Amino acid sequence: MAPEDHEGATSLLQSFERRFLAARALPSFPWQSLEEKLREPSGSELLLAILQKPSGDSVTLSESTAIVSHGTTGLVTWDAALYLAEWAIKNPAAFTDRTVLELGSGAGLTGLAICKACYPRAFIFSDCHGQVLEQLRGNVLLNGFSLELYTPTDPSSPKVTVADLDWDEVTAAQLSAFQADVVIAADVLYCGEVTLSLVRVLKMLSACQRMNAPVVYVAYTIRSQDTGKLFITELERAGIYWEEVPPHAGQLFPYEEHSAIVILKLVLNGCHSVGR
Ligand SMILES: C[S@@+](CC[C@H](N)C(=O)[O-])C[C@H]1O[C@@H](n2cnc3c(N)ncnc32)[C@H](O)[C@@H]1O
Repeated sequence: MAPEDHEGATSLLQSFERRFLAARALPSFPWQSLEEKLREPSGSELLLAILQKPSGDSVTLSESTAIVSHGTTGLVTWDAALYLAEWAIKNPAAFTDRTVLELGSGAGLTGLAICKACYPRAFIFSDCHGQVLEQLRGNVLLNGFSLELYTPTDPSSPKVTVADLDWDEVTAAQLSAFQADVVIAADVLYCGEVTLSLVRVLKMLSACQRMNAPVVYVAYTIRSQDTGKLFITELERAGIYWEEVPPHAGQLFPYEEHSAIVILKLVLNGCHSVGR
């Protein structure tokens, strides 16, 4: 293959891989360039390389192509979900053998990646929107997990459930029944009202599981100077300690290059001292 052909094929290959890993919609793939390349003599090599990537386990998702549809943002995967999934894959010990509760799961990418790569004991996906919950259940089944009675054929497979959990309505008793060791949430600080509802849940978790409070990871994209400010103010008002998780190196998922995403780790029981 001539050097310029090789360069073209490599960039086409990367373009496919990035879109595939980011679960981008099929129309966004560079089909026309692929068709042109496949007409060249080296076309079969390129096709083979595309078919062999990516390697490893995969998460299959059905999701919307619109950022907002049916009055919700939960039918599509957001960048913070990809970032948190990536951090989890690099830090599986934070989830292994734990019961994990996800708040505002949306399409379910983060939780499914954790279920497949981190071996949690149990994983509870949750959301409050009917259509999101329906899609979420479908995505859980699509990835080979059962939502029926827990009869694991593979002992390393977690018990998976999908809960209808509205932060404005959930009670302390309902939260406490989950007995979560770890709570996660991605891209759920997009407006003040939602942020306050989330803090309400965190305060309840802190109060109802005082002796055995879960560790919480909240990931969000900083879209403006104010993103996260209200959340941090409210956490401090509630006496919930927080620290920023150091950014991880090596991008697995191609989220927007310019977006700044952070993960905050919260300690709900107030027994640990955490610096800012
Ligand atoms: C921007 S989406 C993020 C979805 C997913 N975590 C992600 O990052 O791809 C926000 C999600 O939070 C959920 N949500 C918003 N307010 C909620 C509430 N009061 N109770 C439960 N879920 C809520 C929405 O239904 C939606 O699925």
